[in-house]
Amino acid sequence: MSGLTGIVACETAISSIENGVLRYRGYTIDDLATKATFEEIIYLLWYGRLPNRLELTALKQDLLESAVLPKKIYDLLHLYEPWGNAMAKLRTCVSFLTHFDDEVMDHSFAADHRKAIRIMARMAAIVAAIERIRTDLEPIEPDAIQFTSLAEMFLWLLKGEKPEPLAAKALDVCLVLHAEHELNASTFASRVTVSTMSDIYSGIVSAIGTLKGPLHGNANEQVANMLEDIGDISRVEEYIAGKIARKERIMGFGHRVYKHGDPRAKYLKELAKELGEWRGDTRWYDMSAKIEQLVFAKKGLMPNVDFYSASVYTYLGIPRDLFTLIFAISRTSGWMAHILEQHDNNKLIRPRAQYIGKKHDQWLPIEDR
Ligand code: SDX
Repeated sequence: MSGLTGIVACETAISSIENGVLRYRGYTIDDLATKATFEEIIYLLWYGRLPNRLELTALKQDLLESAVLPKKIYDLLHLYEPWGNAMAKLRTCVSFLTHFDDEVMDHSFAADHRKAIRIMARMAAIVAAIERIRTDLEPIEPDAIQFTSLAEMFLWLLKGEKPEPLAAKALDVCLVLHAEHELNASTFASRVTVSTMSDIYSGIVSAIGTLKGPLHGNANEQVANMLEDIGDISRVEEYIAGKIARKERIMGFGHRVYKHGDPRAKYLKELAKELGEWRGDTRWYDMSAKIEQLVFAKKGLMPNVDFYSASVYTYLGIPRDLFTLIFAISRTSGWMAHILEQHDNNKLIRPRAQYIGKKHDQWLPIEDR
C-alpha cells in the first residue's frame, strides 16, 4: 500500500479523525462549524483550549495589527506578470517575509508564537495584495481600517469595500472548516521541515508547495473548472458518465481517510445553497447537488471539503485561482499548531525506504560501460 496509507507517523494532541468524526482539540467539527469563529479556532489549535473573552480580544487585536506587510512584498508582487501562478506567488512572498523577521531562528515558545501571529495575519493580506496588484489596483493597507475579524479583513482588502455580513460570516465558517485536518500531506510536510530545526517560515513554505497539488488543496479550483465546463444542469449526467467511462478522477470526491463522507462537506453544501439563494442564482449549487447524487450512485464516492467550497467561493466573488490560497490562509492555523507541537518535543523525522532497485556486485570501469 503506497502513499503511507494507514501509517501512523506521529502522535498529536491537535486534532483527530475517528470513525468519521473530526475533532479539533477534542471538540467536534459540528460544534465548531456552528458555534466557533476562526479566531477562536486559532487560539484553540495553538494553545489547546478555547479563549475567554479577554484572550480572544487580545488575539484578534494582535492578528489585525500584524497584517501590515513590508512594502517590499508589494515590490516583489509587481515583478510578476499578472498571469503568474497565484499559489507560487504566495509561496514566494512567505519565503521573502523571512528577510524582515529578526526572530526567524529563535525557536523559543514566545518567539514561535509571535511569528505564528505575524504569518497567520500576513497570509490573508498577501492573498488580497496578489489580487489587487495583478488587477492594477493599489493594495489596501490593513491598518487603514478597523476590522472585526480576519474574514472581514480579507474580503475588504480583496474587494476594496466592506463585505456584507453574510459574506464575512460565510467565509469565517469556511476558514473554521479548513483550519486543521490531522496529518494531511501539507501538514506532514511542515512537520518534516521544522523537525530538522529549520525555521517556521520554511515549514509554511513547504506546506504551501504541498497544498498546491490537485490531489490535495487545489481540488477546489479544479471543481470550479469542472462546473464551468459542464455549464448547465442538463449536461451533468452526460459529463459525469463520460468521466467515469474514461476512468478520470472527479475532483472534490473521495478521501484517503473518510470512506463514508467528509463531515465538513455538509456545512459547505448548506453555505453554497444559502449563498446561491442570496445571490439569486443557485445554478452552481443545483449542478453540484446533482453531481453529488450521480457520483455516489455510480462510484459510491462522497464529496470532500473541496467540492462545495468551489460554489461557496464563487458566490463570494473570490477569483477562482485564489480558491487554494483561501485554503492556505485557513490551514496556516493548523500548520502552525503542528509546527509548535513539533518544536515542543522535537525528533528529526526520518523514516526508512524499502529498496527495490538492482544490486550490482562488481564495479564497472568507464571504459567497459
Ligand atoms: C483534501 O488528507 C486530507 O485530510 C486532505 C484534506 C484536508 O483537509 O487536508 O481533506 C483536503 O485534500 C481533500 C481531497 C481533495 N482531492 C480531490 O478531491 C482529488 C480527487 N480525489 C482523489 O484523487 C482521491 O479520492 C484522494 C486523493 C483524495 C484519495 O485517494 P486515495 O485514498 O489515495 O484513494 P485511491 O486514489 O487509492 O482511490 C481508491 C479508488 C480508486 O479506484 P480503483 O483504481 O481502485 O478502481 O477510488 C477511486 C480510485 O480510482 N477514486 C476515485 C476518486 N477518488 C478515488 N475515482 C474517481 N474520482 C475520484 N475523486
